[in-house]
Amino acid sequence: MKNNNISWSGFSKKTPAERTAHLQKHELLSKASQQSLNTQEMLSLDRADQITENVFSRLALPFSLAPDFLINGQTYQVPFVTEEPSVVAAASFAAQIIKRSGGFTVQVHNRQMISQLVLYDVPDKEKAKKAILAEKSRLLSLANQAYPSIVKRGGGACDLSAEIKDDFLILYLIADTKEAMGANIMNTMTEALAAPIEDLAGGQTLMAVLSNYATQALVTAECEVKLHFLSRNKEQAQVFARKIALASQLAQIDVYRASTHNKGIFNGIDAVVLAAGNDWRAIEAGGHTYACKDGQYRGLSTWTYDAGNNSLKGSLTLPMPTATKGGSIGLNPSVRLAHDLLGKPSAQELAGIITAVGLAQNFAALKALTSTGIQAGHMKLQAKSLALSAGASEDETAPVVSQLLKARHMNLETAESILRMLRKQQGQDSSLE
Ligand code: HMG
Repeated sequence: MKNNNISWSGFSKKTPAERTAHLQKHELLSKASQQSLNTQEMLSLDRADQITENVFSRLALPFSLAPDFLINGQTYQVPFVTEEPSVVAAASFAAQIIKRSGGFTVQVHNRQMISQLVLYDVPDKEKAKKAILAEKSRLLSLANQAYPSIVKRGGGACDLSAEIKDDFLILYLIADTKEAMGANIMNTMTEALAAPIEDLAGGQTLMAVLSNYATQALVTAECEVKLHFLSRNKEQAQVFARKIALASQLAQIDVYRASTHNKGIFNGIDAVVLAAGNDWRAIEAGGHTYACKDGQYRGLSTWTYDAGNNSLKGSLTLPMPTATKGGSIGLNPSVRLAHDLLGKPSAQELAGIITAVGLAQNFAALKALTSTGIQAGHMKLQAKSLALSAGASEDETAPVVSQLLKARHMNLETAESILRMLRKQQGQDSSLE
């Protein structure tokens, strides 16, 4: 499944059918995934109706692949679900450069979930806090009794702490939810603690729910980019490396830039989280909260240029509580295909892959922004989609794209007129369908 020596050269130029054949040839898809690809029925209406409410149809999105991410010495072919042009191209581009520079190093710091039980109208909050903490082990076993299956799997509640904030006494339950994201597990356990904790504290429960600020599920991805990949010219490469580091510095101090910087990171993260059937709202919420951890919203990644060692180093840390079980993961065949492509990773492995993708995406965006400008790459892809929309065949696409890129106005009308001219020159019927 995880073959490090597959050639991906020219993958972007293949047709969708040729790409599927490439995946099949290299045994990157299970039999079940191949079957669902063949039947073109990735998510049936009945299945969709089981996943959520009031369903009457389904929305399809492009399902792409960004090949060759080298992470902790292992190569991954990463599924992306996104509608935004140039995201997959940028990630593939970055993955290629970073692989040749030695790859990503990923560290999963911990993988536990946090939920909150919030009490109000507690007569003596300090006394209540002490009483609750004195009963910690009994309360943890009550939490575990409320969800015995996670204990059987080797996880379960492992800590309880308390904090007084204004009118509230807040309890934080920490649990290991193993391969599940854990929202149901945490909510069930925490709700089960409400009555015994009210008895000890003498107040009322306001709410009992998981926190998406998953600071006990932090992941760091790092990489070092060899400067000659920034430019063949040594001096220019150094200028680009410095500019990428300056862009990173800017995202630390300017909130307008930080927002866009992080949006670029989530271009990649969301696409993989969505493909893997995970809760992208939860990952976004946790990531953006982490970007504010010291009171100011900042860029989540940093890039440093070490002129002495001629190196550009990138680092990205954020909460990444991903799952491989639960939710719609087992129900949606496209999601199964995504997990297949990744070689059926564990939740922690998946978290590492997604964090590396975020860093790669950020690198590609910063490289483009500080060198050619973002529009150049974007326009190249836009020109291709205009050529195809105008009706260009496979052979006609390249000449139409090349003329469109030189045109004053890049739009459908121009693409159609270029195509008409091209067909006239070739003595073909110049009418467009
Ligand atoms: P390029 O140098 O013109 O690429 O860059 P190339 O044609 O030389 O190809 C190099 C490799 O890139 C290819 O290798 C592919 O891996 C990949 P090959 O397969 O040929 O051996 N690649 C593609 N993969 C799939 N389909 C394609 C394709 N083209 C290249 N059509 C590129 C072109 C788009 C990669 C570059 O300009 C780039 O990375 N741009 C950044 C694009 C980006 O970040 N887009 C996100 C949307 S903008 C945004 O929302 C975020 C932002 O605001 C965030 C921020 O501000 O920080 C920017």
